[in-house]
Amino acid sequence: MVNWTGVLFVLCGTLLTPALCCDWLRHYGHLSNDSLTLLQQMGGQWTGQECRVPFPRKIYRDIYKAEVQSQLVFIRDSLKLISGLYHHDNLTSASWDTVKTEHFLISIHRQTEELNTCVLANKTSNSSLRKYYRRLARSTLHCTGGSPASWELIRKQTKLHLDQLDLLVECIKSSSAACRRRSAASGRQH
Ligand SMILES: *[C@@H]1O[C@H](CO)[C@@H](O)[C@H](O)[C@H]1NC(C)=O
Ligand SMILES: *[C@@H]1O[C@H](CO)[C@@H](O)[C@H](O)[C@H]1NC(C)=O
Ligand SMILES: *[C@@H]1O[C@H](CO)[C@@H](O)[C@H](O)[C@H]1NC(C)=O
Ligand SMILES: *[C@@H]1O[C@H](CO)[C@@H](O)[C@H](O)[C@H]1NC(C)=O
Repeated sequence: MVNWTGVLFVLCGTLLTPALCCDWLRHYGHLSNDSLTLLQQMGGQWTGQECRVPFPRKIYRDIYKAEVQSQLVFIRDSLKLISGLYHHDNLTSASWDTVKTEHFLISIHRQTEELNTCVLANKTSNSSLRKYYRRLARSTLHCTGGSPASWELIRKQTKLHLDQLDLLVECIKSSSAACRRRSAASGRQH
């Protein structure tokens, strides 16, 4: 049985970042699992179609080199931008389970709220993140008026992003040195 209070105490003590002592980090594993499970269950199979907007690997690579505060802001802003994608008039055309979809959006919103307590209110992340999500919405939902196929692309991209954010959180929770090594390793792969 892992003593999480002890682990957090050590994290807070060694990394000297009050951000890491925020409540959100303690609930993260459970909240993230909820979000991903709901995302999976609200629809059927993941679409095999490819998204025309390339996945923003460089943005993720760069954020590993940033400070923890910036990483937390990045995660918060990513979750906000993701939930923004779903605020669209024709969400019903996706024909997903409406209750599960709503619960998915609530779980994303809840994470955003909890993260807000860990970061400075006036901090915002790099504009390239915003630009990416705008391009994604334009190339899928906006140009089809929210067709079922474009919703499936959004759902698939959402999963890819949530998986990446999970890796980033793991990195924040581990020591920052190990985090940099991983980012260097993933940088070589691409
Ligand atoms: C969520 O947690 C359950 C139980 O630990 C696990 O079986 C499941 O694979 C997890 N789901 C996701 C999407 O990670
Ligand atoms: C924003 O991020 C991009 C790519 O991740 C980087 O090239 C750029 O220098 C960053 N801009 C600022 C203002 O940090
Ligand atoms: C954000 O707020 C903090 C404290 O309120 C202040 O020290 C900092 O200069 C502000 N940063 C920006 C970019 O406005
Ligand atoms: C929703 O779908 C209708 C009918 O296909 C379309 O006329 C409308 O423009 C769409 N709304 C948005 C916001 O794309």
